[in-house]
Amino acid sequence: MNMRAVLVQVENGAAIKYMSELYLMTNYRFALGCVNNTHKVYMLKASEEYPLFIVLEPLNKEYKDQFFHYNIPYPRAAANPAVRYLGEIYQTKKLEETKNILVSHQFRFQENENIHNQFLAHPFFYFTIPSYYTNNIVGYTESDLRDLRGLCIGACFQLDTAASELLEKADMLQETTGLKALINGIDHLATRIYCHEREDAILEFLSLSNYYFWGAYNIDDMNSSTNICRHPEIERELLSPAKVFTANNEPYYTNTITNLPSPTEDFVRNFGKRMHHIAYEVEDGTREDGTKNIDYVVNKLVHADIKFLENIIGECTDFPDLKQIFSKSSPYSHLITEYVQRCHGFEGFFTKTNVGYLTQAAGKDEAFQQSHAGPVHD
Ligand SMILES: [Fe+2]
Repeated sequence: MNMRAVLVQVENGAAIKYMSELYLMTNYRFALGCVNNTHKVYMLKASEEYPLFIVLEPLNKEYKDQFFHYNIPYPRAAANPAVRYLGEIYQTKKLEETKNILVSHQFRFQENENIHNQFLAHPFFYFTIPSYYTNNIVGYTESDLRDLRGLCIGACFQLDTAASELLEKADMLQETTGLKALINGIDHLATRIYCHEREDAILEFLSLSNYYFWGAYNIDDMNSSTNICRHPEIERELLSPAKVFTANNEPYYTNTITNLPSPTEDFVRNFGKRMHHIAYEVEDGTREDGTKNIDYVVNKLVHADIKFLENIIGECTDFPDLKQIFSKSSPYSHLITEYVQRCHGFEGFFTKTNVGYLTQAAGKDEAFQQSHAGPVHD
């Protein structure tokens, strides 16, 4: 059961700007668009083997669906109530049997006649209801999703001239700066949740997929743990990216007693339980001047006005190691982009030191919002 697509919903009118950002920061490229009764669907490909990146743009600004209610209670999510990472789609050999087995274990699925988002209602798919623990959905299909026209309900469309020119500009910038050859596919996807629901969220995902629990890092001084679930069979993470769940160790509400930092739960308090970042692999290697590829990538992106949280973490000097960095969150998806370079044949997934520093860096993005009670507009 491999991951075959990730789904991100943006606001009406934001899809092209978001894709322009993806063209500069990732290796995903627009392959086909179609329009149904509720959305424009933009399907982006990185390669035939990697998951599709599907951007769903509601047809009007008043669009509301079940995910709206997961955004409006939270100060930083309320201003953009349509914006949300929705979930992933996994390929299964037997769709009906997969659903029946999961239903027999009390998992609940969305009924097509009640699905407002018409892409989710496609007959290729079954989607779970949003998880209580993560607010994400999990989709299943028998298709490998390589036939994009088969995914279209409604008419296919081409990008207009202005959109094409904007994307070509970003594509050209990636090409001329040499970034295109260095940024690979998705390495992992990280969801942030409440600490008292951490085990439930992990066990739920393990039950819904063929992934296994690889391990966890406890970052005591950041009051946080990072829990990693991986596909058991693939040779490269990019073929079916890892799923990571991050939560506080002690809840924020004990802060007046424990006085512990709370960078992970600050995000959840600001945005609700949801996807926090998508990590992309940077090709392992060293430039002629001795710098690592990830240093080169980040330097070029900074010159292209992409903002990052803190500096690159990790050394990658003379033994297996990895270097990582978080961007600031996208104004279109609210997702942070992480870059990760595994050096000298590093076989581990993370290092505890890196995870600790990244948790701290992400916390700085949240800290200024800690005590806001009302909606905050970015
Ligand atoms: Fe990460």
